Amino acid sequence: MKQKGKSDVGVALITGASGGLGLEFAKLFAEAGYNLILAARSGDKLSQVCAELSARYGVEAASYAVDLSSPEALERFISDISDIRIDYLVNNAGFGDTGYFHKKPWKVQQEMINLNILALSRLTHHCVQGMVQRGFGRILNIASTAAFQPSPFFNVYAATKSYVLSFTEALQVELAGTGVTATVSCPGPTETGFHTRAGSYKSRIMSMGLMSGEVVARKAYKAMMKGKTLVLHGFSNALLAFSIRLTPRSIAPKAAHYFMKHNDDAQ
Ligand SMILES: NC(=O)c1ccc[n+]([C@@H]2O[C@H](COP(=O)([O-])OP(=O)(O)OC[C@H]3O[C@@H](n4cnc5c(N)ncnc54)[C@H](OP(=O)(O)O)[C@@H]3O)[C@@H](O)[C@H]2O)c1
Repeated sequence: MKQKGKSDVGVALITGASGGLGLEFAKLFAEAGYNLILAARSGDKLSQVCAELSARYGVEAASYAVDLSSPEALERFISDISDIRIDYLVNNAGFGDTGYFHKKPWKVQQEMINLNILALSRLTHHCVQGMVQRGFGRILNIASTAAFQPSPFFNVYAATKSYVLSFTEALQVELAGTGVTATVSCPGPTETGFHTRAGSYKSRIMSMGLMSGEVVARKAYKAMMKGKTLVLHGFSNALLAFSIRLTPRSIAPKAAHYFMKHNDDAQ
């Protein structure tokens, strides 16, 4: 991909851009004239997104159909994009899976850890080196309000998002003075395909309502562009993140347990 678009403003790599928040991020970058590299498993959807955004905004957009939970496919993908200068990285692809850990198939937990932690870290490691050398870059990692406390029934997912939060906050401090910044977004329940795959539609927390993906993505995008460290979405999510700091460690998982339980108790 050449560095050419509406104006020579750089290239954004967005994972999980075939739908949900990732698609919203792709629209925001395209609207601002950035060229795009979009990755997800659904090649057909991605090609369509690329064609639509190129036609509408005059940007270059390349799609990569890749299962980022496969370490081998992840390395092939990195090799394929190694010649491209990436100025903006949005590590958005991720998924959750609700239910008792001991009843869940290991394969799904392994894929979640690989996608939510390994792929995010590996892509950051690949991109951040060039960014630091060039003295500019923006990284946005998508965590969750689940990152702030252990969450029974969302056990592995919440732990992966705690990793994303901790990793990004630490990275931001390391990067001080380099011209590169790392931002972590912690959305609460948001209206995307996430809850269908996670099986979380019946969780009590859903009664708090869902935010719009477009609104969440726009706020995270702005925070990344400004180089902020942490972005929370909406008053109740911000309150949750703050109040958990004052809550004894033994109480927090019990509160999360209540909210992650299904309404019909059928887990
Ligand atoms: N929605 C919420 O309530 C919520 C709340 C907090 C945090 N988040 C986080 O927000 C991020 C985006 O999720 P979303 O809400 O937009 O969910 P979504 O609508 O399910 O979108 C997930 C995206 O990730 C891609 N993806 C999933 N597995 C993949 C894999 N193995 N390899 C490559 N791409 C993969 C999906 O595309 P393919 O299926 O085509 O691969 C899709 O583009 C995730 O990190 C999620 O944990 C969501």
